[in-house]
Amino acid sequence: MADAGEASKRVAREIGSLIRHRAAEHRNCVLGLATGSTPIRVYRELVRMHREEGLSFHNVVTFNLDEYFPIKPDAAQSYVRFMNEHLFDHIDIVRANVHIPKGTIELEAVPGYCRDYDELIASTGGIDLQLLGIGRTGHIGFNEPGATKDTRTRLVKLDNLTRLDAVKDFGGMEHVPLLAITMGVDSILQSRRIRLLAFGEHKADIVQRAIEGRMTSTIPASFLQTHRDVQYLLDDAAAECL
Ligand code: GLP
Repeated sequence: MADAGEASKRVAREIGSLIRHRAAEHRNCVLGLATGSTPIRVYRELVRMHREEGLSFHNVVTFNLDEYFPIKPDAAQSYVRFMNEHLFDHIDIVRANVHIPKGTIELEAVPGYCRDYDELIASTGGIDLQLLGIGRTGHIGFNEPGATKDTRTRLVKLDNLTRLDAVKDFGGMEHVPLLAITMGVDSILQSRRIRLLAFGEHKADIVQRAIEGRMTSTIPASFLQTHRDVQYLLDDAAAECL
């Protein structure tokens, strides 16, 4: 696909029709959501569809992939704030249906919290469609190099390259958190559909390795190759090395 705008609209349309389809059957639609600059246009399009086409999010349940740790929900860089600004504040979603890993829990409570997060996803029937970006390390969510295929939601150490990419948001390497809570590779692979978006030439090399390279925990995104319904939506620049 030539253009990031077109790719984003295509995913937004797919999400919209999934939501409507489920609503017609009086069922919930469970979405896995991502942060970062890449999915912003998808969220913008969903907001437009809500405002102009009457798309309702009343039957939508969401699970975000990840969150920095520790971080307060009202911090400028928190993913709670990001999701509110880009999506949730502008649509009619039921707030109790929104789930984002908590960046404020006590360290010793984190393992139990992460287990509960996976169990909660399973109790909804599982994620219908998982939106993904990809980090330059090959991470999905915050599953950094070394993450194996069987990983579940957990506390992880951020890769140095990921922290460097986050400096622009935190205003200095010393302010970038060392840790994050992320859904695991296995948690992600349980989703019925996976749609990975990548735009720009800085993603071209990692996109090629993730899609065409050997499956390896050095590039966690390569595990998506095992999934039955994964689509990579790329602009020309990100697809250049394929
Ligand atoms: C962060 C997020 C990832 C995201 C990645 C890429 O690390 N936790 O989920 O895919 O950034 O960000 P961007 O879309 O800004 O390139």
